[in-house]
Amino acid sequence: MIPLRRILIWISGASAGLGAALAATVPFENAELVDISRRGGTPGTQHVAVDLADPDSWPVVDKDFRQRIGDGEPAMVVFIHNAGTLAPLGPADRVDTAQYTRNVLLNSAAAQVLGHSFLSALDGRDCEQHLIMVSSGAANRPHEGESSYCAGKAALDQWVRTVGLEQRRRSPGCRVLSVAPGTLDTDMQALLRSADPEDFPETVRFRELEALGRLEKPETAARAIWSLLDRDIDSGTVLHLHDLTYRYH
Ligand SMILES: NC(=O)c1ccc[n+]([C@@H]2O[C@H](COP(=O)([O-])OP(=O)(O)OC[C@H]3O[C@@H](n4cnc5c(N)ncnc54)[C@H](OP(=O)(O)O)[C@@H]3O)[C@@H](O)[C@H]2O)c1
Repeated sequence: MIPLRRILIWISGASAGLGAALAATVPFENAELVDISRRGGTPGTQHVAVDLADPDSWPVVDKDFRQRIGDGEPAMVVFIHNAGTLAPLGPADRVDTAQYTRNVLLNSAAAQVLGHSFLSALDGRDCEQHLIMVSSGAANRPHEGESSYCAGKAALDQWVRTVGLEQRRRSPGCRVLSVAPGTLDTDMQALLRSADPEDFPETVRFRELEALGRLEKPETAARAIWSLLDRDIDSGTVLHLHDLTYRYH
């Protein structure tokens, strides 16, 4: 009997929104799928229950990477770091310090530390390896009221550019990408629309987008993200899903 290829997939923030859509559209039948989030509950996933804004949770995830990768010979490993938060919305000089600290830890620090953990757990293994960071157009375009979110996504993009170059020197190496998914109909968007325009002036634009039916379904973005696994894209590339239509279709 031919053994099944062992495929390991971690998705952070698979309990809701784009992460749940990624879990629902995994393009492999036999993948071992792990949700790294606080709530969990998404069908078909094993749950690593952690608050990624708490640095004490990062070694828990590191251990999970190492245990599962070490437990047999995976043919393919994928980590999609998707968890993110907008809270607190508001100008940097007015928002709550504790919430602002959590935003910086989750959006900026956790992404880099978990990315490092994943690559380190792979430790030169001879298998197909993918690390995808979910970014945002906010990495390039300043949105008043979202300073630590914009800064976190910009940091994540530059981390991917740098680590992508490093991984090109490895054989087989991990293909490291950053992808901005577009404007999606999720709880995060609902939060943007409910914001006070004083704290977050762009709320007006997001309300208009919803009224015009211009929000993308998270499942559509999720399928496009999965399609990246098969596309010929260099490690270290930072892209927007809109680029795929332009560049590849
Ligand atoms: N929606 C958009 O229009 C849009 C646009 C550009 C980029 N993005 C990016 O796409 C990604 C997903 O966004 P979304 O719209 O799907 O957001 P969402 O609906 O708010 O879901 C966020 C996910 O992140 C997890 N998460 C949040 N804080 C966490 C924490 N402290 N610890 C662990 N997990 C945490 C949540 O899980 P728990 O609550 O269970 O922990 C949830 O599964 C984010 O990186 C976001 O920046 C979204």
